[in-house]
Amino acid sequence: MSEPLHETRLVVNGVPHTVQVPARRLLADCLRHDLGLTGTHLGCEHGVCGACTVLVDGQPMRSCLLFAAGMDGAEITTVEGCRAPDGGLGPVQQAFRDCHGLQCGFCTPGFVTTITAWLREHPDPTEAQAREAIGGNLCRCTGYQNIVASVLRAAELLKEAP
Ligand code: FES
Ligand code: FES
Repeated sequence: MSEPLHETRLVVNGVPHTVQVPARRLLADCLRHDLGLTGTHLGCEHGVCGACTVLVDGQPMRSCLLFAAGMDGAEITTVEGCRAPDGGLGPVQQAFRDCHGLQCGFCTPGFVTTITAWLREHPDPTEAQAREAIGGNLCRCTGYQNIVASVLRAAELLKEAP
């Protein structure tokens, strides 16, 4: 017997979508497989690593812990939506590039979405605050120093933005 499907409306990176999903389809899987937005990565699938973080109505959430069908009507921003309006790198993405804030890049989408939301409320962070901001995201490559530098650089870029 095939699983019942639930019609779910999502606005993802400003684009409205209607998907038909089984009740247990994770938001992360819906974004990746139903919508082809493979920038959202799945690491632990248990809410620990932060790689799957997306913004739901502007707030960072772990898409491995959410069912897509429960998100009906939500506005979601993925790492793809953190780009600049002209399609180039957005300020947080540019900061990661400037400061070599990534190595393998697996964790990076979750950092970019987390930092994007955090800087809206902390536009002038200290280094200690920047460390705290990324305390819920795991990276097994970089040692975090360059990610902290990226948070501070992103704050600078946001201030310089027109
Ligand atoms: S994959 Fe969601 S927190 Fe690790
Ligand atoms: S850059 Fe490899 S896990 Fe963070």
